[in-house]
Amino acid sequence: MRKKIVAGNWKMNNTLQEGITLAKDLNAILANETPNCDVVICTPFIHLASVASLVDSAKIGVGAQDCADKASGAYTGETSAAMVASTGAKYVILGHSERRSYYGETSETLKDKVKLALENKLTPIFCIGEVLEEREANKQNEVVKAQISEALFDLSPEDFSKLVLAYEPVWAIGTGKTASSEQAQEIHKYIRSVVADKFGKEVADNCSILYGGSCKASNAKELFANPDVDGGLIGGASLKAEDFKGVIDGFKA
Ligand code: 13P
Repeated sequence: MRKKIVAGNWKMNNTLQEGITLAKDLNAILANETPNCDVVICTPFIHLASVASLVDSAKIGVGAQDCADKASGAYTGETSAAMVASTGAKYVILGHSERRSYYGETSETLKDKVKLALENKLTPIFCIGEVLEEREANKQNEVVKAQISEALFDLSPEDFSKLVLAYEPVWAIGTGKTASSEQAQEIHKYIRSVVADKFGKEVADNCSILYGGSCKASNAKELFANPDVDGGLIGGASLKAEDFKGVIDGFKA
């Protein structure tokens, strides 16, 4: 059966020292716990090696928030998938809406990023989601289907089954406005049907689809109780160990 996952996206927060403290706090808070889900923290590149070496890797996976669309070479400022993997990180967020909207990330570049991430044995956490005007025009299904098909339909079913999807309605990110539990279930179910139509029911049933967008301790349980919501991609509420633990506890009985 598919994995339940709670992944933190620290975004551009925390100095190296603050990040190390946060990772240590999370380690400590989970030390005597057995979470009912996989726990991942996606840190800035700068933190990866230090954080990966200090967390209990049996309990906490580490990931980057992006990687380059090229393997290596003269690409000043870029960080390759191989470099990410060499830190001990196992995951990489790709196609986050902030990268799509502020840094012009397209499905074409994302295709290359996904390929390189998979070649380097990283698990992509591939983000999709509509903006407010698209939701208001009831175009959310169309938008997420296009995002998936443009960047991921060239993959073999075997490769597709190595990635995790994250549905993040852009209007819910950092706004305090969460999709309702019903809205989340409805579109997650639709996303799974898109995957099933292309890659088959088994691949779809095994695909973890996370919800992201103002998910926090107070709403995680209700969101995660939906049959097609397999966990969360958490921004703001991943920046304090207690808050993040509260989200992880959304999977507690
Ligand atoms: P918030 O949880 O801060 O809304 O951010 C969600 C997100 O973008 C995670 O990738």
